Amino acid sequence: MRIPLIAGNWKMYKDVKETEEFCLKFRELYHDTDIRALLLVPFTSIETVRRLTEGTNIMVGAQNVYFEREGAYTGEISVPMLKALNVEYCIVGHSERRGYFHETDEIVNKKAKALLSEGILPVICVGESLEIREAEGQNEHVKNQIRADFSGISAEDAAKCVVAYEPIWAIGTGRTATPEQAGEMCSLIREELIEMYGEDTADQIIIQYGGSVKPENITDIMNMPEIDGALVGGASLDPVKFMDIINF
Ligand code: 13P
Repeated sequence: MRIPLIAGNWKMYKDVKETEEFCLKFRELYHDTDIRALLLVPFTSIETVRRLTEGTNIMVGAQNVYFEREGAYTGEISVPMLKALNVEYCIVGHSERRGYFHETDEIVNKKAKALLSEGILPVICVGESLEIREAEGQNEHVKNQIRADFSGISAEDAAKCVVAYEPIWAIGTGRTATPEQAGEMCSLIREELIEMYGEDTADQIIIQYGGSVKPENITDIMNMPEIDGALVGGASLDPVKFMDIINF
């Protein structure tokens, strides 16, 4: 039985003061539900979110990590550093990192493994560009990403991972995939995971949809049987909207 997971990805938004404002408002609105909720925030906001959401069930995560444990890697943040902040999840392979920062599936896979080795759970993002979708290559593309990103990860670890299907053409564009399109791709991802790990393991993996999720479309998205949650960008920056999505 998979418990739905709604995650907010703040991307590069909110300094510490804005984070405090969000948390104070969010706390007023928040009441515990059966849905698990997670905020994936800039490194500089992790401690503040953790402190100001204490006593709620909200979980806190990061948006990126480096796979080496320590060393001369100026500007990078390691898994043990995140562990010390009690971070529960970390995004890997977001399309913005793949696109702007040239992260390959090999790097995504190394980061996922490094996180799992310390008990931080990766949210592995996959998804196709508009060009690939228009050429009807999305199934092959996403299957290849899943194969490469999970390469060498044991079944026991794979079961703890989250996969976020985020078609690039739906991110920040207001152009949501239809629930059917999103559902189809999430089913395809589950099938690939069944092939890799068998049904028992694949059935435990949370698969989210991401791309212009908002209070108005979350119910239809969550009604698709293979979609277990959402990775929300823009709408997670507003505590009222994010709470409405959690309460879908
Ligand atoms: P938007 O919800 O702003 O489209 O962003 C989606 C996303 O990239 C979440 O990781």
